[in-house]
Amino acid sequence: MGTSFLFPFPLILLITLNIFTLTSSATLTTDQDALLAFKNATIDTNGVLSSNWLANTSVCDWAGVSCGIKHHRVTALNLSNLALHGNLIPHLGDLTFLQSLDISSNNFTGVLPTELSKLRRLKHVNAASNNFSGEVPRGILANMSVLEEINLRFNKLSGELPSDICNNTPKLKRLYLKDNQIYGKIPTSIYKCSEMEELSLSGNQFNGNIPTEIGNLSMLTLLSLHHNDLQGNIPSSIFNISSLEFINLEGNSLSGSIPTNLDNLLNLQVLFLNDNNLTGA
Ligand SMILES: *[C@@H]1O[C@H](CO)[C@@H](O)[C@H](O)[C@H]1NC(C)=O
Ligand SMILES: *[C@@H]1O[C@H](CO)[C@@H](O)[C@H](O)[C@H]1NC(C)=O
Ligand SMILES: *[C@@H]1O[C@H](CO)[C@@H](O)[C@H](O)[C@H]1NC(C)=O
Ligand SMILES: *[C@@H]1O[C@H](CO)[C@@H](O)[C@H](O)[C@H]1NC(C)=O
Ligand SMILES: *[C@@H]1O[C@H](CO)[C@@H](O)[C@H](O)[C@H]1NC(C)=O
Ligand SMILES: *[C@@H]1O[C@H](CO)[C@@H](O)[C@H](O)[C@H]1NC(C)=O
Ligand SMILES: *[C@@H]1O[C@H](CO)[C@@H](O)[C@H](O)[C@H]1NC(C)=O
Ligand SMILES: *[C@@H]1O[C@H](CO)[C@@H](O)[C@H](O)[C@H]1NC(C)=O
Ligand SMILES: *[C@@H]1O[C@H](CO)[C@@H](O)[C@H](O)[C@H]1NC(C)=O
Repeated sequence: MGTSFLFPFPLILLITLNIFTLTSSATLTTDQDALLAFKNATIDTNGVLSSNWLANTSVCDWAGVSCGIKHHRVTALNLSNLALHGNLIPHLGDLTFLQSLDISSNNFTGVLPTELSKLRRLKHVNAASNNFSGEVPRGILANMSVLEEINLRFNKLSGELPSDICNNTPKLKRLYLKDNQIYGKIPTSIYKCSEMEELSLSGNQFNGNIPTEIGNLSMLTLLSLHHNDLQGNIPSSIFNISSLEFINLEGNSLSGSIPTNLDNLLNLQVLFLNDNNLTGA
């Protein structure tokens, strides 16, 4: 009699507690699992991850990890310049709340996982100065609705840019692909990145003409296309972008004469056109 009276209350409490812990920790566990898988796959020369990323502490206290104040999910990872080696694992695509990823100045190799394009809140990506190879995943350049900046310069990325670049990246303001091995044409759909301010594609093997559609990027301040295999005329549409401050087209095979509407470039500070095949005045 006594037990049947006492038993139900703590049982109900226990069940309630269990449901609560399960639902609230399931998502936190996802972030921890993803980061522990990353740690496991990364060669951590300086021991930053091995000494600091411990399963018995909150991910929000780990070096280089920032969390949201309310939901305690991982919102930023900054692992810049920590002498990390290895391949990036697809699990990073499980950090659902990630807004900023900075893994620059390490020695990561292999491909950029396509799973990164699952990160619908991602605004800033910096993977510059590593040894990444393969293509830039199409999803990242064509399909991330809040992405503002992507910096992949100084890697060994190759292949062509997706022909639907900028199709659904309306917020992209800064795209840096300098010093890789990317070839093919600069896709004309680039004009869809209408908020673009800085476009740096220099030091690759882009060929064909400079698309006139670049002239539709009316907020552009920096256009850097030097040291590629670009040919044909310099589109006069580019010299209509009055916001431009810096233009570098040197070291291509551009021909024809310099567009005469140069006087539209009221904010221009730097113009390099040397080492081309330009003629005229
Ligand atoms: C850790 O990495 C090894 C291979 O380097 C792999 O076999 C193992 O499954 C990984 N463990 C976890 C928990 O990811
Ligand atoms: C966490 O685990 C590490 C070893 O994995 C141990 O050295 C450390 O004392 C533990 N910290 C706490 C707070 O339990
Ligand atoms: C990451 O940390 C480095 C060095 O502390 C800093 O220079 C850089 O601005 C940080 N990156 C981001 C995206 O905040
Ligand atoms: C980067 O990694 C490659 C291959 O693992 C290695 O040959 C090279 O020495 C590393 N570079 C640096 C700066 O650690
Ligand atoms: C990339 O790898 C090469 C060797 O394959 C190495 O010489 C170079 O230092 C590496 N770059 C970085 C940034 O680690
Ligand atoms: C673009 O995003 C949608 C969902 O937001 C997804 O279904 C689709 O597969 C993505 N396309 C690419 C090329 O990543
Ligand atoms: C691009 O600019 C040209 C010339 O100014 C204009 O005729 C055209 O409508 C613009 N295209 C778009 C999609 O804005
Ligand atoms: C440049 O702008 C002028 C007017 O400011 C316009 O008449 C001309 O068509 C434009 N040229 C191009 C190639 O967009
Ligand atoms: C420049 O033009 C000349 C004559 O048309 C051609 O022979 C030469 O290959 C061109 N050079 C470059 C760098 O395009």
